[in-house]
Amino acid sequence: MIDRIAEIADLVTVALDELLPRADGPEARLTEAMRYAALGPGKRLRPFFAIEAARLFDIDERAVLRAACALECVHAYSLVHDDLPCMDDDDVRRGRPTLHRAYDEATAVLAGDALQTAAFDILLDEDTHEDAAVRCELARRLSYASGARGMAGGQMIDLLGVRDDLGGVARMQRLKTGALFTYAFEIPLIIADADEAQGNALISFAHDIGLAYQIVDDLLDVEGDAGELGKAAGGKDAARGKTNFVTLLGVDAARHRVAHLADQARAHLDPFGHDAEILKASVDFVLRRRS
Ligand code: IPE
Ligand code: IPE
Ligand code: MG
Ligand code: MG
Ligand code: MG
Repeated sequence: MIDRIAEIADLVTVALDELLPRADGPEARLTEAMRYAALGPGKRLRPFFAIEAARLFDIDERAVLRAACALECVHAYSLVHDDLPCMDDDDVRRGRPTLHRAYDEATAVLAGDALQTAAFDILLDEDTHEDAAVRCELARRLSYASGARGMAGGQMIDLLGVRDDLGGVARMQRLKTGALFTYAFEIPLIIADADEAQGNALISFAHDIGLAYQIVDDLLDVEGDAGELGKAAGGKDAARGKTNFVTLLGVDAARHRVAHLADQARAHLDPFGHDAEILKASVDFVLRRRS
């Protein structure tokens, strides 16, 4: 399992290195900052899910890889902005200084902006898929998942910190983290033009694993080791007045919820039989992470 995740992570990093722009003039500072954020040692989990789910279908791997890179660009942008002083104000990400620490705030804002548009450059390029309708649908769904009804909307709710009920927290998590996880599975579904039953099964899996992933992230904020995590820990979320499953339910109940979501996630893959073994096995691996 570790091998498969590491293999896909390498594949994605090499592809991103080729896809991200380079520049010679003064704007090289911006392209270097984009590369610092996107090529750093991330786990590449969303691309892993896109590429592994694509193996359930007979589709062009190159198209999936390019779309997975586009998704990773949006994810990298979301982290750059999430770390800014006006948001979570973090100094360490992926074991290195956050982008605004390594460069400066204005460069970090621009690098986030440009990573976001780089994602759509990649998706809409003819090299991604010969069928313009498929390229368009890939772009349409990514813009939905990233925007006010997805990641950015969830980040807004997170910053407002005014949730006191589980339903509200679940909705925030679904938007801020779940939407990009869901897009990972939409990539193969769009490219394969999969049927409704396959779509429902994979999207249900995505919802459960995305929510469980963010709860684990919130648990690690309390219980994790900052060195191992490569980012701040020590209860920083609660200290900053954030509400999440852990602050509302406590550690034990949050862990219980993760275990329940993991069981539910695996069950959604039953219709795919043996073909989904790696995806099923990845659930525990992903949720037991320490980094
Ligand atoms: C961090 O995402 C933000 C969350 C949504 C929890 P990851 O844990 O996937 O971060 P990287 O990409 O591996 O650094
Ligand atoms: C961020 O959630 C989710 C994003 C959309 C970037 P967190 O703020 O908990 O992520 P970390 O802990 O900084 O990685
Ligand atoms: Mg945040
Ligand atoms: Mg944060
Ligand atoms: Mg966190």
